Amino acid sequence: MPAIIVVGAQWGDEGKGRVVDDLARQAHLVARYNGGDNAGHTVVAQGHVLRLHLVPSGILHPHTVCLIGAGVVVNPVQLAKELDELAALGIDVGPERVKLSAAAHIILPTHRALDGAREAARGREAIGTTRRGIGPVYADKAARVGLRAGQMMDVEAFGQRVAELVRSHNRLLQEHYGLEPVPVEETVQEHVALAQRLRPYVADVSEVVAEALAAGKTLLCEGAQGTLLDLDHGTYPFVTSSSCVAGGALAGLGFGPGHVARVIGVSKAYTTRVGAGPFPTELTDEVGVRIREAGGEYGTTTGRPRRCGWLDLPILRYAVQLNGLTELALTKLDVLTGIHPLRVAVAYEREGQRTERFPGEYGAEELVRWRPVYEELPGWEEDIRSARRWEDLPPQAQAYVRRIEEAIGIPITLIGVGPGREETVRR
Ligand code: GDP
Ligand code: IMO
Ligand code: MG
Repeated sequence: MPAIIVVGAQWGDEGKGRVVDDLARQAHLVARYNGGDNAGHTVVAQGHVLRLHLVPSGILHPHTVCLIGAGVVVNPVQLAKELDELAALGIDVGPERVKLSAAAHIILPTHRALDGAREAARGREAIGTTRRGIGPVYADKAARVGLRAGQMMDVEAFGQRVAELVRSHNRLLQEHYGLEPVPVEETVQEHVALAQRLRPYVADVSEVVAEALAAGKTLLCEGAQGTLLDLDHGTYPFVTSSSCVAGGALAGLGFGPGHVARVIGVSKAYTTRVGAGPFPTELTDEVGVRIREAGGEYGTTTGRPRRCGWLDLPILRYAVQLNGLTELALTKLDVLTGIHPLRVAVAYEREGQRTERFPGEYGAEELVRWRPVYEELPGWEEDIRSARRWEDLPPQAQAYVRRIEEAIGIPITLIGVGPGREETVRR
């Protein structure tokens, strides 16, 4: 069997972790293809609440091999910590099960310091990054001065390269930002030890993928962030620095488009965003607060309150188009219980002009010029968390799901009615 890509259809935190955990039952390989520990993917299963930042969300299924692809940027401190936490839960995280691409770039403490420094320097124009060093490490990668996981094989040379990079970043921190340098010797020692620890995990991930696909195995690709945070197609500059869209899976893992059988978008039944940037359907009233509290909308990585708003159908249509979505998983429908009427944005308008299209590549500057046009739909009162079949959902909830399907032209095949593995309605 072929490749399945799971991608966020909004601004991240759509529930990709829980959807990947669900699909991993049928997958042999589960692979992260982009981003770093800016991601926070939650899996609630087997009595655990796992918050994964780097290890793929298939790790709870013992039959899977979990891959971290070339398109991912890895903070080795975080990876080691996450492997320790999983091992403490009795989960097998040995090198036979978890593999790190030799081409994945390494995040150093100075990348994080530079991320913070750039954010502070932007002042009111700050992006609201997770300060995990994501922008600076991808910048080094594109500038071809980065450090890759494969270099950990020669620990001594790795240490030297860490020292060189930290010194060069320190010059920027001191001279440009007037900040304290990061200690070179300590950082080198820490990273040499990490290289010794993580070296056995380094692999040629595209080769592992190629062999598995040739043997008819199923590859589940786990996107981080979401379509609107994509570096090229998102709400630039309020985006992350990687390819979040489905195409990023091909580049980030190294396989061809002919293998892709399904592209599954994940969307909440409403919209959230963490960090700065335009958000047309944002609710700044008590309904927004209610959604935040009912949905537990606080960042998995940074703990920041997430901005909440109505579902935006032009955004979902944009996600269908950019990713070639074949189906959608709709999470957190339970959070809307008791809110009525419900509203969904069906179009945008500006000075008497109306469009059903998301402004797309014109970015954040263009998006702020448009106002959403809403349609009202009746809400429901019944607690839906125990629903397991389509027929268990109240007619208003069914109508809400159908309205989305009608607008986006693809089927909604999974509905989340709670965070737990079993709190799922399949269609
Ligand atoms: P990801 O980054 O896309 O994997 O999503 P996050 O894990 O950052 O955020 C999604 C949050 O919603 C997590 O706390 C999940 O446990 C929770 N969640 C996922 N699906 C549902 C659902 O259907 N209902 C409810 N109430 N919570 C859900
Ligand atoms: P998951 O995978 C939600 C946001 C940050 C900020 C912008 C840039 O859990 O869905 P960065 O640190 O990447 O340079 O920050 O992107 N952001 C996310 N928002 N979910 C995420 O990941 C995110 N990763 C980054 O808040 O607005
Ligand atoms: Mg998240």
